[in-house]
Amino acid sequence: MKVIRTSADLAINGAPPAFDEPLHVGRPNIGDRQAFLDRVSRVLDNQWLTNNGPMVQEFEQRIAAHLGVKHCVAMCNGTIALEIAIRALGLEGEVIIPSWTFVATAHALYWQGITPVFADIDPATHNLDPAAVRRMITPRTTGIIGVHLWGAPHPSTNCRPSPTSMA
Ligand SMILES: Cc1ncc(COP(=O)(O)O)c(C=O)c1O
Repeated sequence: MKVIRTSADLAINGAPPAFDEPLHVGRPNIGDRQAFLDRVSRVLDNQWLTNNGPMVQEFEQRIAAHLGVKHCVAMCNGTIALEIAIRALGLEGEVIIPSWTFVATAHALYWQGITPVFADIDPATHNLDPAAVRRMITPRTTGIIGVHLWGAPHPSTNCRPSPTSMA
């Protein structure tokens, strides 16, 4: 295994690559392809692609039932979902996020005029380290965004990971 000691050891800086093929962080679980394509066909057959169509309504109801919550509002992507949640919660100033997450966690805050503050992670779980979070809290802190990395619930919650917060 190649050991990275400095940034000069990285392939992006001209060093030999550590792997023969690109190694992506994760691969989506595709599930039942035919069932998915059948549903896509139904969307096309309906000729109703926007504005709260029947498939969106069914999706929202089934996700709400699965998560045991009253409401579910489908969003076009995770970044917009985060931005809307940030606005709905009235966050401002500084918000603490894990130092290891997808960059959209920071983007969503930044685009809402909020300073993302990176707290260290627990090397065992790769999720936010609660002690590190405590050290980053200032009078400007209005929130903490935990990320359930690898689908493992963040230690400060008892809830199941939500689809938008699973990396
Ligand atoms: C933790 C986390 N937040 C936000 C996002 C952004 O989601 P999207 O690419 O759907 O905007 C991702 C995407 O991988 C993510 O892993």
